[in-house]
Amino acid sequence: MIVLKLGGSVITDKERAETLDGEALDRAADAVAAALESTSESLAEGLVVVHGGGSFGHHNASEHGVTTTAGTRDATAVHDVHGAMKTLNAFVLSRLLEREVPAVPVHPFSAGHRDGEGDLQLPTGQITTLLEEGFVPALHGDVIGHAGRGATIVSGDELVVELATSLEADRVGLCSTVPGVLDADDAVIERIDSYAAVESVLGGSEATDVTGGMAAKVRALLALEANASIFGLDELGGFLEGAEPGTTIE
Ligand code: IPE
Repeated sequence: MIVLKLGGSVITDKERAETLDGEALDRAADAVAAALESTSESLAEGLVVVHGGGSFGHHNASEHGVTTTAGTRDATAVHDVHGAMKTLNAFVLSRLLEREVPAVPVHPFSAGHRDGEGDLQLPTGQITTLLEEGFVPALHGDVIGHAGRGATIVSGDELVVELATSLEADRVGLCSTVPGVLDADDAVIERIDSYAAVESVLGGSEATDVTGGMAAKVRALLALEANASIFGLDELGGFLEGAEPGTTIE
């Protein structure tokens, strides 16, 4: 099965609070629908979609000072972040449903927690059941209960890594605003097998992003069993049908 993340910056306008990039989301939904209609082998065991927040979660989180490690015990803060992410999730689901993709929501806030070590604990019985029953579970970056700290942020990337491991994903894809991980000359690096080799070219994300930019993604994906691809929206269809576009992280 495939775990696919749609980056928050791809499907939203990250410079404007709570603004969808409807055109980009339509293109992503078209690619998912087309791949599910084809008899693509890599999708035979199903697809789990995870999306980021873009302008729907990060602004709320930073207003309340909540990050992946700085927690809040303010219920209003939890509602603000979770509410924004559910709103975006509803947009994603409706665009997929319009194209007859059987996408259903799984909200991490209600599904998991962080333990006292800060490690994500995410039971997946509901997700495997939904997959086996032919659904496309759609999760999202969220706020999540954190033992000893109230509630903190869980990023879409963290969910992808967790799900890829626990669901034994065959392939992982991160659809991003860039065509892959870029080197100093802005050329796509085709394969990455160690962080040290790319450390010097990976900067932080420029817009408000409480969960770290490309560097954090690469680090997390290197830890996976499955190969992961980072690619732009133009390559989403190809990825879902079996290609390895953009950067492959081994
Ligand atoms: C956003 O998730 C989580 C929040 C609630 C702040 P991500 O961190 O995965 O979102 P993007 O893809 O980087 O926007």
